[in-house]
Amino acid sequence: MKRYDGQVAVVTGASSGLGRRFAVDLAARGAVVVGLARRERLLTELEDELRRTSPESGAAVCDVSDTEAYTTELASIEREHGHVDILINNAGIEQRTPVDSPEGLEPYRQILETNFFGTVAGTLAVLPGMRRRRSGIIVNVSSDSARAPEPRAGAYAASKAAVSAFTEAVAHEVAADGVHVHVLYPAWVPTAMGMSGVNDSDGSLPPKAVRRTEEDVSRTVLERMGGDRMDINAAWLPLLAPIGRTLAPRAYQRGMRKFASSQ
Ligand SMILES: NC(=O)c1ccc[n+]([C@@H]2O[C@H](COP(=O)([O-])OP(=O)(O)OC[C@H]3O[C@@H](n4cnc5c(N)ncnc54)[C@H](OP(=O)(O)O)[C@@H]3O)[C@@H](O)[C@H]2O)c1
Repeated sequence: MKRYDGQVAVVTGASSGLGRRFAVDLAARGAVVVGLARRERLLTELEDELRRTSPESGAAVCDVSDTEAYTTELASIEREHGHVDILINNAGIEQRTPVDSPEGLEPYRQILETNFFGTVAGTLAVLPGMRRRRSGIIVNVSSDSARAPEPRAGAYAASKAAVSAFTEAVAHEVAADGVHVHVLYPAWVPTAMGMSGVNDSDGSLPPKAVRRTEEDVSRTVLERMGGDRMDINAAWLPLLAPIGRTLAPRAYQRGMRKFASSQ
């Protein structure tokens, strides 16, 4: 089991779901973890749990869609602990955005502010220190929606496609500086967000081959991050979507449209 003793890790969206799991598991593997999110009560509970295995760990209220607040928080963590070695940009929101929604552009802006601009802000804020020290790990959480956008999820899919494209470009740019930048595709996980996606459709769970637990995804990430491979895929089945659409574009299109009309 890979250890992270003495490393300082920041995890966003740490109050629930995948982010909470990453934070707790990193602390158990020796890291000093700072978990960020908006819900204070959940963060207090998280802090108690983190300190059982990693006494210097903590949690702070921070809205990553507020770029100034997020970058100020990261600077203060760097000042307090001397460095940030690992950043997991995991905070995310999801909302259906059908084309006839009366809400217009607003949900697009909110989703992009959190999922994309939050990720960009965090990445750009920690990179100078990591490049100077010639070491560091950034994991930006994307989604299979980026590679196979589903009907009625245009804003979420666009935000995650933007995360993937940004992360890949940066990963290539800073690889020679000793900084490992990864994009994570978690497959499907029964978190609050995962279950709300199921409840918004016909209620059936995705195929078994793409179902993962929070523990599965966290284990995969903690074992693979810092390694040579930029993409971290928690399941292999979703990788067939881009292959399928390239080899059989019409069949892919028909499948997606059938799915759209079945909802
Ligand atoms: N579950 C899946 O199947 C799945 C699949 C692919 C990708 N993902 C991605 O995985 C990541 C984690 O999602 P999850 O499934 O664990 O869902 P979740 O349980 O709903 O967790 C989302 C986390 O993000 C935090 N968050 C949301 N907006 C925030 C903001 N503006 N500032 C700070 N924190 C914020 C939430 O905390 P607060 O409300 O306390 O702020 C919460 O801790 C997301 O990026 C999601 O898109 C999930």
